[in-house]
Parts: sequence; C-alpha cells; structure tokens
Amino acid sequence: MKVDQSKTPLLDAIRTHREKEPISFHVPGHKNGLLIDEENASAFYRNDLTELSGLDDLHDPKEAVLEAEGLLSDYYGSERSFLLVNGSTVGNMAAILAACSRGDIVLVQRNCHKSVLNGIKLAKAEPVLVETEWDADGRMPLGVSLEAVRETLKAYPHAKACVLTYPTYYGHTYDIESIMEELHRHDVTCIIDEAHGPHFKLGSPFPRSALDMGGDIVIHSAHKMLPAMTMGSYLHIGSDRVNQQKVQEYLSMLQSSSPSYPIMASLDYARSYIGTLTEDERKRNIEGVLHFVQALKQAHAGLGVIRTHDPLKLLLRFKGKSGYELQALLESKGIFTELADPYYVLMILPLVKDRFSFPFEEAVARVAEALEHEPVQEEWPGKRYERLTDKFYSFLSLDYEQMEGKEETWVCMDEAEGQIASQMVTPYPPGIPLLIPGEMISKKIILRLQEYVNNKANIQGYHRLGEGYVRVYR
Ligand SMILES: Cc1ncc(COP(=O)(O)O)c(C=O)c1O
Repeated sequence: MKVDQSKTPLLDAIRTHREKEPISFHVPGHKNGLLIDEENASAFYRNDLTELSGLDDLHDPKEAVLEAEGLLSDYYGSERSFLLVNGSTVGNMAAILAACSRGDIVLVQRNCHKSVLNGIKLAKAEPVLVETEWDADGRMPLGVSLEAVRETLKAYPHAKACVLTYPTYYGHTYDIESIMEELHRHDVTCIIDEAHGPHFKLGSPFPRSALDMGGDIVIHSAHKMLPAMTMGSYLHIGSDRVNQQKVQEYLSMLQSSSPSYPIMASLDYARSYIGTLTEDERKRNIEGVLHFVQALKQAHAGLGVIRTHDPLKLLLRFKGKSGYELQALLESKGIFTELADPYYVLMILPLVKDRFSFPFEEAVARVAEALEHEPVQEEWPGKRYERLTDKFYSFLSLDYEQMEGKEETWVCMDEAEGQIASQMVTPYPPGIPLLIPGEMISKKIILRLQEYVNNKANIQGYHRLGEGYVRVYR
C-alpha cells in the first residue's frame, strides 16, 4: 500500500495542541513564546544560520559566541561558561567525563537525572548512590543530608567527584554549601546539576545559586526556567579544580557539529532577560506568585497548593484523586502542567518581565472550571510510605564491566526481590530512575514500581511492567 507522504503527523499534533489555547505551566520557560519579543519569535527560520563570517563557531568561539559566553560568565560569576545546544544532558555527561576516569568513585544523589548515571557509565567510573531525605509522608525524595555525605565519605574517602541535584525537580533545596565544604575537604570535585535553578542568581527569596557557594561545575537548563528554547543550557566552571580544556573537548565530542543558531540565540536572549531583570521586577514576580497561590487555594475546597523552596514551583494535590487524575482534569480546560505523579501535579510558573504579561487570572478561572463538579472527598491521595532504605548510601551489585554481555531475563515483579535489575526504569517526566541497572531490587522498590504502573505512569523505553514483569540479570 502506498504511504501518504503528504502527512505531517507531528506538525498536526502541535497544531491540535495549539488549538486548545493552552496555558503553559511547564517547560520551556518562554511559556509558548509569551515571554519572547515579537521580532525574535518570528525570526525562527531566518535565525537558523550556520558558521558564516561574523557568526562565530560554538566549538571554537572567537567572536560573537565568545562574547555571549563572556557575558554569561560575568552574570553568573563563573571562571568560564559555555552555551549548550543539547540540554543539561550533555552538560552532565561532559562534566562527569572531564572529572572522572575509569574506576573512579563518584558519589551520586540517588534521585539524580538519568543523564548523570549515563555519564558515569560512559566514563566507566563507579557510582555510589547517596540516599536522600524524604518528605514527611515518604512520598517525595528531597535533597541529601550532610550526615549522609559524611558517612559515605567515611566509606569512600578517595571519591573523585560528587554529583548533586540542586534544586530537585520539585523545587526543594538543602544545605549544599556545608556539603560542598565537606566534599572539598576530601578534595572531591563537586558537580552540581542545577538544571532547575538558572534563576537562583536573582537573590532572595530565590535560593542561592550553587555557583556562589563553591560548585566546581554547575549545569543549568536555561530552557526550563528561563525563556530559552528547548535544549538550550549552560555549563559553568566555578573553580580551578576543573580542567576547562577537557570540558570543552567533551562538549565538542558530544554535541552536534552543526549547533542550532536559534537555540544559541535564545540562550543569549535568556541571559540578557535575567541579567537585566530589575529588583522591582523580581518583587513583582514574587507578589504575583503569592496572589496566584491565594487565588488557586480558593478555586476549590479540595485543592491543596503547596509552595516549595523555589518560588516558581508549585505542587497541587486534590482530595480523592491521584496527581495523574488531577492533571487530566486541568488539561481538559487547557491548563498544561509540568508533570504528575501518584500524588501531585507540578506547576512551573513564569518569570515575567514588565513588558510581558501572563494570564494568571484566566488560569485560575480555568482551574476552578475544571474542578467545579468534583466532590470534596476526605482523603489526600496516596499512602504514607516508609523510607525506601535506612542506609546512607548504596552501590551497584554489579559493576559496568560485569554487566556487559551478561544474560538477562524477565521475572514476575512478585518474585523480583533480591534480583539484580538489568534495565533502567524511569518515569518521564521527571526522568529520575526508580531502578538502576546493577541495583539489587528491594521489596519497597517493587511496591513503588507497582504504584506507578497502577497509575499508568509514562515509563520510558521498552518494558513489560504493565504485564507485571521486570528485566533482571540471570
Ligand atoms: C535534574 C535534571 N537534570 C538534568 C536534566 C536534563 O536536562 P535537559 O532536558 O536540559 O537535557 C533534567 C531534565 O529534566 C533534570 O530534571
């Protein structure tokens, strides 16, 4: 049968989405282009250029790119900063490859993004997973504690690097300054995945930026919280513990030899956007958030609105409904949020300069409309959990060499306890693996997995979790 080549399914899907007149509470931070000046927004294809005279070269910057990176470095107070066109994914990988060699021990916050584990695998280094604190209900991993890092360092005093996620995807921060001081006392390079915190440079009430507290390499997804295009990120070098040349070489190796000029231009725009945001604008943003939170709280008696350490991140929950069900209700009225999990919906708010506006009032009206026929139930969603483990750290039961070529098989989830996982199980978003290859599967992990499966969460890659199977090493 002849295939109809006139079809453009992806374009059509995007058009259909736009027809819903969506309000964006998700990444990218430009909020469907609302925070972009008209001239910039309409120049997408005209800006899509290549390394012509005067346009410089990302991989060997000497002119405009170098100047843009200089301005970036000046704003964030780094030793050197790079524009990235392949997200914080490439930033994390290049940072780890530059800092670690085969066999080096790398301490990793357990709830890290998958790119961190992939970077460690590529470097053939050995991860030691530092367990996180949990919220009071045991539902949400937070940051790591100083005590956990100290205990891990006692066992691994010669660790080469430590990769911390600060803030967490959900906007939680923790005392990373004391932790980095402790790590530096052991001469450990601190790589901070600050993907969700490129706006922390704005000052209180935003948390402090890891670069200002001693981070050796700090990675920012500018596209998440600033008005840059998707895949636009920054990598900053904060100290001379890091070999700049090596970082640059790995970035060159891992990124396209034809980097996108629209993404690079949007990174320049995003830096200028935040770099010129005034104190009054910052205050107005915070007032706007407070006002929005109050209005949301009044939208429905069953709706809970929880603020996090990052003023631009809000968690919503609804009595009697899972986060997935709440998200679906909101989407029915064109409110698109960043993610849902079994309990919460995460909203990412915009950082709005005075010359732009964001439809907060319209959003509150739509939330109220989406929930108006929902009865108020007794219970908040989800169970209360115990911690996944009482240990401060854990390690993989097999190293990467042992895993290579080892035979795999599927086992029923009920029988998986004590077996060694051979696949990464990652709900997306947020892209934080629940199970890591080489990791021993515990009963508590199985219960969590089952909850995600029961809620029909989107889990990346080929898997048979829906049928009740998990892949393990034989
Ligand atoms: C904490 C964290 N780090 C890194 C990444 C990867 O970032 P990017 O999408 O910019 O590649 C993500 C993406 O969601 C993330 O949440």
